[in-house]
Amino acid sequence: MNGNTDILAIETSCDETAAAVVRNGRQVLSNVIYTQISMHTLYGGVVPELASRKHIEKINAVITGALEEAHTTLADIDAVAVTYGPGLVGALLVGTAEAKAIAWAAGKPLIGVNHIEGHISANYIEHPELKPPYLGLVVSGGHTHLIIVRDWAEFEILGRTVDDAAGEAFDKVARAIGLGYPGGPKIDAAAKEGNPLAVTFPRARVHGSKYDFSFSGIKSAVLNYINHAQMTGQAVNTADLAASFQKAVVDVLCEHTAEAAAEYGIRNIAMAGGVSANSALRAAMQRTCETNGLNFYVPSPVYCTDNAAMIGVAAWHEMQSGRVSGWDLNAVPGLRLGER
Ligand code: KG4
Ligand code: ZN
Repeated sequence: MNGNTDILAIETSCDETAAAVVRNGRQVLSNVIYTQISMHTLYGGVVPELASRKHIEKINAVITGALEEAHTTLADIDAVAVTYGPGLVGALLVGTAEAKAIAWAAGKPLIGVNHIEGHISANYIEHPELKPPYLGLVVSGGHTHLIIVRDWAEFEILGRTVDDAAGEAFDKVARAIGLGYPGGPKIDAAAKEGNPLAVTFPRARVHGSKYDFSFSGIKSAVLNYINHAQMTGQAVNTADLAASFQKAVVDVLCEHTAEAAAEYGIRNIAMAGGVSANSALRAAMQRTCETNGLNFYVPSPVYCTDNAAMIGVAAWHEMQSGRVSGWDLNAVPGLRLGER
């Protein structure tokens, strides 16, 4: 022990096999990510069974790489952390089984981490001044949550998607307009060449719950637009379509966030999750916050998409609160935010 707390964190909830070493919940000593994207691209999306197999194949090398890059060994690690939900059950099982085996063999405490909590915690890496309470917007492939982070691991959910998650909408629309997988980054890139005002897509509001989101309507409107164009022999400008769809999603995310900040009198806003890597969303949220006199926080893109450093940060807060997992820790694919 050197007075520091070094956590080895493991993340295998979807299609990235990742391990990191994080010191004192803030300093990333290593962050190794093996992305399976090229394999899943062949199938147009994540194939759960293949994801699990690839995790098994890569996990040991990724963990060894993370320890080496951090110039440490398992003996000098203070705890082993792992994402145990939400995510793909088979993929989560690889990480949890590996973490339990390592922690048990090395005699280290085991800390199960909620993946969504991990995404939010990614903000603390580069913004150590950010402290609860603040308003959080989590936008990933599986989740869209507008929350008040009351305390380090205490969340009040103001709104969530009632259908598709924001990232899911990006992925589905990308497939429909022929950009393929992974949809988010492809739409982001295509939109840079397009006109966001070319087509007006609906900014769906959910009746009766003003902070909930609905993205399936925007997705259907894009599909209808393409069908109509094909039936009437009109050419579809992919870049314009990508830019217009992206604007519809970004507008709703920014509007909800600004409204909630005003209603609850919160001045600090933090965004997280894979979609928060989107360049248009980052720029628009920055503008929204400037206009409304709010402080805006977002991780660098590498900490927005799935990684293990964010899991190490969240685990440190769990440890600070005295929460350590038992050896019966299991994968919980449907784990909710704030649930343990
Ligand atoms: O957080 P994440 O890596 O995994 C989940 O927890 O789901 O998020 C993945 C999602 C995918 O839907 C992906 O298309 C989207 O994040 N994404 C993006 C961008 N980069 C990743 N969406 C829009 N623009 C991007 N640049
Ligand atoms: Zn994620």
